[in-house]
Amino acid sequence: MMITSGITALLLAVPCLAASLADLTQPDSVDATSGRARPPRPTTAPRTGNYIKATVRKEQVAITNNATSSSNATTTTTATALARRWGRLPLSLYESGIVYLMDGKSDRHVPGQTVEVVVDTASYELYVNPDCARAANPAFCAGAGRYDARGSGTAENLTTRFGVSFGSGGYAGTYFCDTLTLGDDSWPVANQQFGVATASAYVWAGMIGLGYGEGYNTQYPALLDRLVEDEYISQRVFSVGLGGASGVNSDIIFGGVDYHKFEGWMEPVEIWPSPAEQMQQFGQVGYWVNLTSLGHTRPGQSSTEQLTPAGFTRMMLLDTGSTFSYMDAEIVAALGQQFEATLDEQQGIYYVSCSYLNGTEEDDDDEGSGHVHFGFNQGGVVIDVKYEDFIVDLGGRCALGVQSADVGATSWVLGDTFIRGAYMVFDQYYDAVWLANYRPCGGEAVADLGKDPGEQLWTEIYGGCD
Ligand SMILES: *[C@@H]1O[C@H](CO)[C@@H](O)[C@H](O)[C@H]1NC(C)=O
Ligand SMILES: *[C@@H]1O[C@H](CO)[C@@H](O)[C@H](O)[C@H]1NC(C)=O
Ligand SMILES: *[C@@H]1O[C@H](CO)[C@@H](O)[C@H](O)[C@H]1NC(C)=O
Ligand SMILES: *[C@@H]1O[C@H](CO)[C@@H](O)[C@H](O)[C@H]1NC(C)=O
Ligand SMILES: *[C@@H]1O[C@H](CO)[C@@H](O)[C@H](O)[C@H]1NC(C)=O
Repeated sequence: MMITSGITALLLAVPCLAASLADLTQPDSVDATSGRARPPRPTTAPRTGNYIKATVRKEQVAITNNATSSSNATTTTTATALARRWGRLPLSLYESGIVYLMDGKSDRHVPGQTVEVVVDTASYELYVNPDCARAANPAFCAGAGRYDARGSGTAENLTTRFGVSFGSGGYAGTYFCDTLTLGDDSWPVANQQFGVATASAYVWAGMIGLGYGEGYNTQYPALLDRLVEDEYISQRVFSVGLGGASGVNSDIIFGGVDYHKFEGWMEPVEIWPSPAEQMQQFGQVGYWVNLTSLGHTRPGQSSTEQLTPAGFTRMMLLDTGSTFSYMDAEIVAALGQQFEATLDEQQGIYYVSCSYLNGTEEDDDDEGSGHVHFGFNQGGVVIDVKYEDFIVDLGGRCALGVQSADVGATSWVLGDTFIRGAYMVFDQYYDAVWLANYRPCGGEAVADLGKDPGEQLWTEIYGGCD
């Protein structure tokens, strides 16, 4: 993400809040595909067209300033409306965590202001300029870039206040409009509304929320809405491939899918409860899906041990902003036993041997690596996460990638320790998340997702290199 000034000549002076997403006819849901056979494997390459690719960088960030983490978020008093981020803090509260940052690629032709932001599927707005003195890592915060409205000819101060809080952290400030540029090719999005913080706690970078926007969580077109409105892409869909633990080639593709990052068909997993029901029940919408099984295979073995009973189902939030996943305490304990983990009761963290990170480099098909298996749609798709993607390196010490959730529906999270094993299409048109195992076969092959992305993913887009 880059916030620039100096490209006014290209822009129309539309008022920031006036634009509204044109009504899109939406299919009933991904149910439309159930009971419907998949066609034979396609023999022609899918079409290519419009999409925006944004490279994502993996970063390990240590907590160096714990004075802020337990103090009150500064946010609550000043905001006219207080939003709440789903799920967990974007960093674990202990020592350090791993986050994925959208890389602000500087463009030599535009004197832009580059701002790095955490990629977050569990929130829905863009926030910049945290208070670095109160950040969990002030040095990282200082290097992540700042937005200067006064240095931009296109900035508009909307003067309305915002606040967002998540547990011990949050941002508060004033909404602005300005031209953002997005993706590796720096596509401009004019008059995008976003929050410029004047106070914050804990957070050490900006954040870009990729959740449901206008009509659900926001009163104005969020960035994804604007990409459709500005006809960069056809529907509100984006693909996420964070890649393995090494994090090479992590990217987000707005309006497209890279079919060299998975094999075979992708499976649609319905967002449940539906966005409309979530609005009624929770007052906001997140990417919640039902997990239907969790299993485990030890390194060098082929038999899988199921850790969940038959008929198991648990709604889980897909959250790229969370270093860890969070599940039922008994399941986490059972998994901890498999890894001979030591539980730190105070922090709720399961420490494991860092040798699990070594991987099986010499073993191309990863047969030798242990796996944790996440099942959806009653076995319709199972994501096999390799040990080295599942274990979190906290810098010298290693932790199991899942921790026990607090009681309460909003705390079951599939964070990065799951997401690294998957290739995913977040589909706000069919209200589904399409899943496949992350299996890069070399190079990049991006298909454009058009007016009916579900139909394309069901019948035309088949992953693999041959
Ligand atoms: C964090 O807090 C603990 C105890 O409150 C203290 O021992 C430790 O030195 C602090 N660490 C940092 C980096 O401030
Ligand atoms: C948090 O805020 C409350 C009320 O404003 C105050 O009583 C309390 O001392 C604050 N706690 C911290 C840790 O600042
Ligand atoms: C934006 O407007 C608010 C409210 O009028 C004001 O307090 C703030 O200083 C302004 N910010 C900038 C950067 O001009
Ligand atoms: C998700 O699981 C719940 C039970 O926990 C069930 O009632 C619901 O129908 C499931 N939704 C989908 C889409 O499978
Ligand atoms: C993993 O690597 C470390 C250091 O690179 C080594 O000390 C350890 O023995 C290795 N463990 C296994 C199980 O290969």
